[in-house]
Amino acid sequence: MQGIQYESTYSAGTVTTRSAVLAGVGGWVPPRVVTNADLSAGLDTSDEWIRSRTGIAQRHLVDPGMSTADLAVEAARRALASAGTPGVDAVVVATMTPDRSCPATAPEVASRLGLTGVAAYDLGAVCSGFVYSLATAAGLIATELADQVLVIGADALSSVTNPADRTTAVVLADGAGAFVLRAGGPDEPGALGPFDLGSDGGGSDLIQVAAGGARQRLSGRPTDPADFYFTMDGREVFRNAVTRMAASSRTVVRRVGWQLDEVDRVVSHQANSRILSALADELDLDRKRIVSNIDRVGNTGAASIPLAIADADATGVVTAGDRVLLTAFGGGLTWGSTVLVWPRLRPAERPEDPPKPAVATDPAGAGTEPAPAPHQPTSEPPVAGPATR
Ligand code: ACO
Repeated sequence: MQGIQYESTYSAGTVTTRSAVLAGVGGWVPPRVVTNADLSAGLDTSDEWIRSRTGIAQRHLVDPGMSTADLAVEAARRALASAGTPGVDAVVVATMTPDRSCPATAPEVASRLGLTGVAAYDLGAVCSGFVYSLATAAGLIATELADQVLVIGADALSSVTNPADRTTAVVLADGAGAFVLRAGGPDEPGALGPFDLGSDGGGSDLIQVAAGGARQRLSGRPTDPADFYFTMDGREVFRNAVTRMAASSRTVVRRVGWQLDEVDRVVSHQANSRILSALADELDLDRKRIVSNIDRVGNTGAASIPLAIADADATGVVTAGDRVLLTAFGGGLTWGSTVLVWPRLRPAERPEDPPKPAVATDPAGAGTEPAPAPHQPTSEPPVAGPATR
């Protein structure tokens, strides 16, 4: 038995558990674009190496003063507008780069959204954090602790990136994405589940930020400043990412009763385009079914799945009725997957669109979100072309 595998809906006698249904999506990346050429100016790397080994052409990074909470708030505003709701009962922020090690980032994010008083907590499962957070949100809804939950994946990975480490500096990036979930029935479009979650702490050293936690402080050792940077055993992580996501994907597809070739879109953690291709091959799926925006935004950690799907929804790459598989892999090691039939949503803004003037949402229902800004074309076309059906 590997990890947690549960149906988000089940019948026990006459009692049927409520499902978590996707009601809105949003994503946002900070405006500063850093190209491969920009990185090559200060690192022993090249545009050709980065594109061919990772699929990344550019990434968005925060400017000094901008934090994970700032990214989360922008993505959340868009998801709330997409859902047409000003309020939720709980806010979950999946992140490995919280604004501070104490307190959690979620209460501040909730407060800035006008949601003071709701349950708010962070979830740490690195790049699997968004799928883990969806599962816990589904649990809040199933147990009637919440009717609506805002789930945000947000990471300012540049805050832990060693600018001199070419193996990580070329992949890590900043951004945020969010889902609004509401209580609903298991057969509605947008109902999430089943879920599959797993971990292997034996690989905890493969992806880490060594300092800043209790272990180094308690050891009494002087902390090497380099230990505050993100490190990764790229090759070993690559191998694990493909095998774990493939196995987890198979589990949820089998449990929901689909065949793998009935999956229209796979939205996996955007770590490396070669991992996405290897995952498609491992699952024997047409690579065109893999949704990807990694060429334009890089690896945004916990944000990558909702960011990719917000972009895909805004550009019509994913449409109502599509059978969608979400699968993630990250530090821990952790992994997780879930499925849904894509619902009809209000048109989302593209993550690259500039933020609208900040207008506080009102949890009492008097929210005054301005009308969506017109779409601003970007210089780069989206990578994720329409999949063959
Ligand atoms: N530019 C030029 N050369 C480079 C660079 C670079 N930016 N980075 C590494 N190299 C060199 C290495 O030094 C090595 O040279 P050598 O053969 O002379 O020793 C060579 O390229 C190959 O190095 P590898 O590490 O084997 O390169 P690889 O093809 O594996 O790519 C990468 C590295 C991009 C990190 C890849 O391993 C990867 O994507 N791994 C998985 C990442 C992942 O899944 N992360 C998910 C969880 S963590 C998170 O998402 C936050």
